Amino acid sequence: MLKVCIIGCGGIGTYHLGHLVEYGDLITLDGFCDLIPEKAEGFAAKTGSGKAFTDYRVMLDEIVPDAVFVCVPPNCHGAIEDDLIRRRIPFFVEKPLSVDLAQAREIGRRVEEAGLITAVGFQCRYDMLAAPVRAFVRNNEVIYINCTRFGGVPDMPWWRVKSMSGGQLAEQTIHQLDYIRYAYGEPETVFSMAARGYIKEFENYDTDDVSVTVVRFRSGALATIATGCYALSGEAFDSKTTYSTRKKRLDMYLLDRADIYGEAPGEETSAVGDLVVKGDGSLSAANGGAISVKHTGDPGLLCDRTFLEAVVSGDGSKIRSPYADALKTLEFAMACNKSMDTGLPVRVGE
Ligand SMILES: NC(=O)c1ccc[n+]([C@@H]2O[C@H](COP(=O)([O-])OP(=O)(O)OC[C@H]3O[C@@H](n4cnc5c(N)ncnc54)[C@H](O)[C@@H]3O)[C@@H](O)[C@H]2O)c1
Repeated sequence: MLKVCIIGCGGIGTYHLGHLVEYGDLITLDGFCDLIPEKAEGFAAKTGSGKAFTDYRVMLDEIVPDAVFVCVPPNCHGAIEDDLIRRRIPFFVEKPLSVDLAQAREIGRRVEEAGLITAVGFQCRYDMLAAPVRAFVRNNEVIYINCTRFGGVPDMPWWRVKSMSGGQLAEQTIHQLDYIRYAYGEPETVFSMAARGYIKEFENYDTDDVSVTVVRFRSGALATIATGCYALSGEAFDSKTTYSTRKKRLDMYLLDRADIYGEAPGEETSAVGDLVVKGDGSLSAANGGAISVKHTGDPGLLCDRTFLEAVVSGDGSKIRSPYADALKTLEFAMACNKSMDTGLPVRVGE
C-alpha cells in the first residue's frame, strides 16, 4: 500500500480526496496539510484516517509518504517541489505549475535529473473525447483551430490578482491550451491582446477581463483563442474548440461532446474507428448530420489512478501529462501573457 499525503486542502484538494478515498486497494491516506488548520482537520475527519498538519515539512518527516498530491494556488509553488525532489517523493501537482516560468523550468530540470514520477492535473486528457479528437486530427489536415472559453470570476481571492493566479488564460484556459497541444501539436508563435475595465464589482480585482490570442503552430496552421471571465451567464458566449479542415470540422465542447461535421454516420470514419466507448458513452448521428461523441463521467478518477499505478509499478509511461510535458503548456500560456504585456508576438519557449 502506498502512503499518500495531500498538501493544500481547498477546492481541488477536495476533488482529489473524493477520488483517493475510492482507491483503498492501492493506497492509505496518511497526512493532510493546509496552512489553515481547520481545512486539514476537515480532510482527516472526512476520511477517518490520516493526521492533519499545518507544516508540510513536518508531515513529510513524520509520515514519509510514497506519493504526494500538491494542490496549492499557482503562486505557492517552489519550496514544496524542492522538498519533494530532495526526498525523492513522486508527486502529482496541480496546474498551472507556477506563475514563474523560470521556477517551473528549474523544477522540471531537477525532476528529470532525479528520474521522479510526476503527474499534472490536466485531467481532460483522460476524457472520452481524446481518442476521437486525436484520430480526427491525425487523419484530416487541420488548417485552423478556433477556441473559446468564457465564464465568470471564481471565488478564491488569489484568483483575481494576476501575479498570484497568472490570469484567466494561464489559470483556466490552460486546460484548452493543453488539450490543443495534446490533440494537435506544438505552438510556435503567439500574439495576444487583453482588455480590462468591464468587471467592476471586486475591490481587489487586478487581471484581464478578456483576451484574444493568435497562434501559429509549428505545422504552419493557425488558431485563435478567445477567453473571458466577464460572463455572468451561459448566454454570454459559447465555449468550444473547433478543428477545421477543408471538408470537415470537429466541434469539441470540453468534457461534454465532440460533434464531427462532414462525416456521414454510416461512413467508416477514422475518428469513430478509434473511439473507445464503453457502456457509459454513446455514439449517434445528431445536430443536422453531425456524428456526436459523448463524454460522461469524471476523467480525474482515471488521471489520479494512472499516477498512483505508475508509482506502484515504477513505470510512468501511461501518465498523459508528466511535469516535463505540462511545462510546455505553461510555456504556451506564459508566452501569451508576455505578448499581452509587451504588445509584440512572442515565440513559445523563449
Ligand atoms: N485541474 C483542475 O481542473 C483544477 C480545478 C480547480 C483548481 N485547480 C488548481 O488547483 C490549485 C488550487 O486551487 P484551489 O481552487 O484548490 O484553491 P484553494 O484556495 O481553494 O485551495 C488552496 C489551498 O492551499 C493551501 N495552501 C497554500 N499554500 C500552502 C502550503 N505551503 N502548505 C499547505 N497548504 C497551502 C491554502 O491554504 C488553501 O486552502 C490552483 O493552481 C488551481 O488552478 C485545478
